[in-house]
Amino acid sequence: MTKNSNHLAAGRGFMLMLLAGAVGSALAAEAPADPYPPVKFDLPAHEAFVKDLNLDPARHQGPQTVEEQKKALTQIFNEKTEQNSLSKHYEKGHTCTTCHDQQRIGRPDWMTSVTAPEMKQKCGDCHDVQKKVFSKTDTHKKIDCVACHMPNMPSPEEFQGPDGVKEFYNAVRRSHLYKINVDPSAQTYVRNLDAKEGERLWTYALDKKGHAYVDIVWSCGRATPGDYTLSGDAQGCHSPATSTLDEGLRYADQSAIYAEILKWQTPVKEGFEKIGAGLERLKQLLEVTALKPADQTEVRLMLDKAEEIYDQVKEDGSWGAHAPRYLKDRVLTGVGYIEKAQAIIDKGGYQSASEKKNR
Ligand code: HEC
Ligand code: HEC
Ligand code: HEC
Repeated sequence: MTKNSNHLAAGRGFMLMLLAGAVGSALAAEAPADPYPPVKFDLPAHEAFVKDLNLDPARHQGPQTVEEQKKALTQIFNEKTEQNSLSKHYEKGHTCTTCHDQQRIGRPDWMTSVTAPEMKQKCGDCHDVQKKVFSKTDTHKKIDCVACHMPNMPSPEEFQGPDGVKEFYNAVRRSHLYKINVDPSAQTYVRNLDAKEGERLWTYALDKKGHAYVDIVWSCGRATPGDYTLSGDAQGCHSPATSTLDEGLRYADQSAIYAEILKWQTPVKEGFEKIGAGLERLKQLLEVTALKPADQTEVRLMLDKAEEIYDQVKEDGSWGAHAPRYLKDRVLTGVGYIEKAQAIIDKGGYQSASEKKNR
């Protein structure tokens, strides 16, 4: 309990700092009559997007009054605080200010009616392996980490209709759960079966490690209007309802998405396992096989290279999703090194070192 209230307190502190930042910058400019002037949006797709949400574009200029501002900010920040606290990032000590600079206001955010806090660290600053692997992608060149890992999602409270039926929701805020769970039966939101009177009927599902996650319908096939980074070709991602992609790239349901993911992941995982098994076997064989020094060096070089690939694929952790063709090529290369090393050892005739000494 204390753990939870601490999260909320931290969130509110952050919120107030932001609010103070907003007031500060408003005052620094020509002091306007309204301390919270509506944010002016200059994004081409704004009006269509707002209409998609059944909102009135003229009205949807951000919260109008101080009270509305405070309410919107409180909701948004409490929601992100809860989400972040259910992630591995939080477990590793990462809080809002790890990624955001709370003293600087970023771009105006026309989806959430608040301004986005400026980033000070980006995903790739810490996840350098993933960044390098993703830079080789052929399938998702135009999008970034955040598009897949932090899709716009509602908070569970929002679709709490009578009898727990999911009703209207605004999926306009970036989720801060980060982890994508590809399991075809995983669902980000589950019914809160222990809900007592007045408690919410839906909540976040947790995996075995106690972390919440983004399921693949939200990550890949969301039916909400895409976020602005996806406007144009990729809007609506792979959703059968809203996708602007080719017919073949719209997936009917979660199992169809999973089938696509498996097409990427199966060859990468198979290759990865072959390399792992090969490394273990050949390292043992190398100890007991007598080889000419030049062959020894050659084998060790092959094994080093194979291990480098093995470590990279493991560290990346996407098993193909970040760059399907590149990662498949990498494991094939790794398997090639293993086979070559095996061939050199085979030529040595599996003669054990002790046998050789005894001759
Ligand atoms: C691991 C990095 C990371 C952490 C930790 C993090 N954020 Fe974010 N946050 C982001 C990114 C990335 C965006 C999207 C920025 C963009 O679209 O330009 C974002 C967007 C936002 C936005 C903009 C509105 C929206 O929904 O898009 C708000 C508000 C926000 N974060 C608040 C918070 C709060 C509060 C916390 C702490 C509870 C937090 N963030 C923790 C990375 C992070
Ligand atoms: C300050 C450094 C830092 C930043 C910035 C950061 N991460 Fe992380 N991230 C970590 C660490 C540390 C872990 C835990 C790694 C581990 O233990 O294997 C992690 C774990 C993850 C995981 C795995 C979660 C799990 O439950 O296994 C994902 C997914 C992830 N990060 C995505 C992102 C994305 C997307 C961004 C950008 C919005 C981001 N990270 C920004 C440091 C960072
Ligand atoms: C096309 C969507 C997509 C993009 C873009 C993307 N990822 Fe991923 N990422 C995934 C998927 C899907 C997985 C999970 C694979 C699995 O668990 O089977 C994943 C896995 C990860 C993991 C490992 C998580 C774990 O569970 O251990 C990290 C960390 C991560 N991504 C970070 C990043 C970073 C950083 C970027 C940007 C450089 C990025 N991703 C870009 C889809 C994406």
